[in-house]
Amino acid sequence: MNKTSLIVLAAAFALGLTITYYSRGGGGPVAPQVVKLPEAFSPQAQAGQALYEKNCQTCHGANASGTTNGPPLVHKIYEPSHHSDKSFHRAVRNGVKPHHWQFGQMPPIDHVQPKQVDSIIRYVRELQQANGIF
Ligand code: HEC
Repeated sequence: MNKTSLIVLAAAFALGLTITYYSRGGGGPVAPQVVKLPEAFSPQAQAGQALYEKNCQTCHGANASGTTNGPPLVHKIYEPSHHSDKSFHRAVRNGVKPHHWQFGQMPPIDHVQPKQVDSIIRYVRELQQANGIF
């Protein structure tokens, strides 16, 4: 194999890696999403919204649209089939090491109880649904 074909191969490999990385939702910072609100939130989601605004919004943004500190949760990669309700509980309990983006780490949010996380999840899911995420 000559030098040129080696270079072409290496470039193709690098391109493939880049495409794989970005199609998994990686990279960032990501521009805040334009989020549509549902006509009405369920009572559980309304409770979740208040908890979300207090505990999550500084990083994940108003209506989960994202900020420069954290990713939007109204985003395809956080749909239930990729990030189940369990992964939300895990994120709040243990924190999150950066892996999808380059915002840095999410700290554990210890004072938020599992029942409260359930309500926050309901709120995020209803937002996701209103925006055609699933
Ligand atoms: C100090 C900033 C900050 C706060 C506050 C915060 N998060 Fe996060 N969160 C992040 C960052 C940054 C990531 C992305 C990590 C990555 O994948 O690179 C993240 C990721 C997540 C994920 C994805 C987990 C995974 O498995 O990939 C979920 C779910 C989540 N956050 C939920 C929440 C909820 C719910 C709250 C409020 C109770 C919250 N976060 C509060 C910064 C924050």
